[in-house]
Amino acid sequence: MTGPMIAGRVAAEPALEGREPASLLEVTDLRVRFTRAGRAVHAVTGLSYRLAQGRMLAIIGESGSGKSVSSRALMGLLPPTAHVSGSARFDGTELVGLPEREMRRRRGADIAMVFQDPARSLNPTMRIGTQVTEAINAHARLDRRAARERAIELLQLVRLPAPERRFHEYPHQLSGGMRQRVMIAIALAGRPRLLIADEATTALDVTTQAQIMELLVDLQERLGMAVILISHDLALAASYADDVVVMYGGRAVERASADTLFGSVRMPYTRALLGAIPLLERPAHTLLPVVPGQPPDPAALPDGCPFRPRCGSADDACATAPPFDEHEPGHWWACWHVSGLEDPRAAGAQRRPSGPEET
Ligand SMILES: Nc1ncnc2c1ncn2[C@@H]1O[C@H](COP(=O)(O)OP(=O)(O)O)[C@@H](O)[C@H]1O
Ligand SMILES: [Mg+2]
Repeated sequence: MTGPMIAGRVAAEPALEGREPASLLEVTDLRVRFTRAGRAVHAVTGLSYRLAQGRMLAIIGESGSGKSVSSRALMGLLPPTAHVSGSARFDGTELVGLPEREMRRRRGADIAMVFQDPARSLNPTMRIGTQVTEAINAHARLDRRAARERAIELLQLVRLPAPERRFHEYPHQLSGGMRQRVMIAIALAGRPRLLIADEATTALDVTTQAQIMELLVDLQERLGMAVILISHDLALAASYADDVVVMYGGRAVERASADTLFGSVRMPYTRALLGAIPLLERPAHTLLPVVPGQPPDPAALPDGCPFRPRCGSADDACATAPPFDEHEPGHWWACWHVSGLEDPRAAGAQRRPSGPEET
């Protein structure tokens, strides 16, 4: 095992420190516990990752692994039953425990979020233009005309076709893809430095999904904005993300740059997600292959490695939870077993060379 533990987190190697740009977001041992009917639900159980300015980080995992809860914790968007601990530093500011007043001021201006269902996020009774203008007014004092100009500008930025006309239309007059573009425009109204897209393309058809992903990459590059892509789709991460965090049972179980991770998958859970299907042959919209067994119940987490009951490599050592360590430069994983380290590329699994075919 490499990477000395310092106060619960792995210290970066000096060489790595020099290579990587400074972190915009540094999440360290983040925990979220809900109290439901007198029982503790451990939704996030010690999540650590960092995200550099202008990068795209994919957070991948099965449903219930804590992806959404951990991201909502960053924005103070959890119900009062949530107890959040650990640390999430955004550009030097600690977000955990930040007073709601301060959080509200920063929400949308530092970090903004888009969700899966644009039909439900948009107000069906309000014109598109009014909704975008409202978002602009929440962040800046502009007169009517300037706000309208800025709204059109945002709609152009997200490449909504015929923005001047769409400005006056209602959500139902737009396609699903166009509505998601409007939601992204609304998210960009506060000029955030980090955009969190939580399953933002999951409800869309394959072609539209690819177009929205292209848009996110394009915005990331043009605005120098960091993006967190939350998805259950490992193939999406392989196609678009710079860095990947695989979550299981509320914590990270494998983390690396996409090139490193897909070049040599180490964690048995990630291997199970990849299944036997080479990434090259898997369309970006396919669901995760079904990993046999059930994910852990966050209200009754097992001792030891949470993946143990479903893992083909499990043995007695797994009764003790493996630490999440940097075993190879830039590559973290939480598993006692370093067996089966054959390069999956030999089996045909590769990162897809560029974007999807559907464009
Ligand atoms: N308000 C809540 N009260 C209790 N448990 C919750 C609440 N919100 C989410 N959870 C639980 O937290 C766990 C993680 O949820 P979530 O982050 O939404 O998963 P996903 O990875 O699918 O986004 C799930 O078991 C979910 O049931
Ligand atoms: Mg979710």
